[in-house]
Amino acid sequence: MDIIHSVADLRARLEREPNNVFVPTMGNLHEGHIQLIDIAKPRAACTVVSIFVNRLQFGPREDFDRYPRTFEADCARLREAGVNVVFAPEEKEIYPEPQTFVVEPSDLQYLLEGAHRPGHFRGVATVVLKLFNLVMPHSAIFGKKDYQQYIVLRDMVRQLALPIEIIPAETVRAPDGLALSSRNAYLSPEERREAPRLYNVLKKVRAELEAGARDFQRLDQEAMAELTRHGWRPDYVAVRRQADLRQPSERDRGLVILAAARLGRPRLIDNIEVVLA
Ligand code: PAF
Repeated sequence: MDIIHSVADLRARLEREPNNVFVPTMGNLHEGHIQLIDIAKPRAACTVVSIFVNRLQFGPREDFDRYPRTFEADCARLREAGVNVVFAPEEKEIYPEPQTFVVEPSDLQYLLEGAHRPGHFRGVATVVLKLFNLVMPHSAIFGKKDYQQYIVLRDMVRQLALPIEIIPAETVRAPDGLALSSRNAYLSPEERREAPRLYNVLKKVRAELEAGARDFQRLDQEAMAELTRHGWRPDYVAVRRQADLRQPSERDRGLVILAAARLGRPRLIDNIEVVLA
């Protein structure tokens, strides 16, 4: 496994690798990331993973400085997972000058996560396009845990005609249902015991939809009330269309229920897809 820190070395290393699949990460890797790599590996001769904590996608009050940097442990995991190239640039390699050209996603960037994290998807889309230009993969893998991120990047690739296939990967969960996330490390033992409720609430909404409920706003509000009763501070629970994350009509079949809520200090997100008969 080659560990590369500079853009020049990356370009030189990948010059002889026309068949790349790419898994971008911010490090602090867990089983969910390893699953992305397992999906990537059979698709190409060379699996490239980036580790880069992207300042552009963090708001001023978010945890950029505190975001866990676990480079040695990450590299050990990646080596074991059979990755070929790790690209771990310093910030000045990616942003040698202020990034004044940015990717402005559609209005989708203002919904849901975007309403609570202004500028987040602009920062994600900008760094991912830049990483795509450096790695030049034919495919890239993104977890559906960050559902809105996946939709924004899928739309970016389609609208800008990038020759890259975006491959979504299912969310990996702990045995009690909690979606794996780097931010779970911030949960106290008591919060960790409470945390699976987020997924349980989503499953309850899904069961109601499957049983015929179509009063989407009532479902959203009841789910938020249940979280609040158990000490959460929900930002949203929302039944949306899978295709564009807009409000569904009664005729829509492909739905996704998305949620974000704080439990103590950590803010957890999760979602669950539903395809109605
Ligand atoms: O999902 C992430 O870890 C990040 O948003 C990504 C895609 C690596 C861009 O910084």
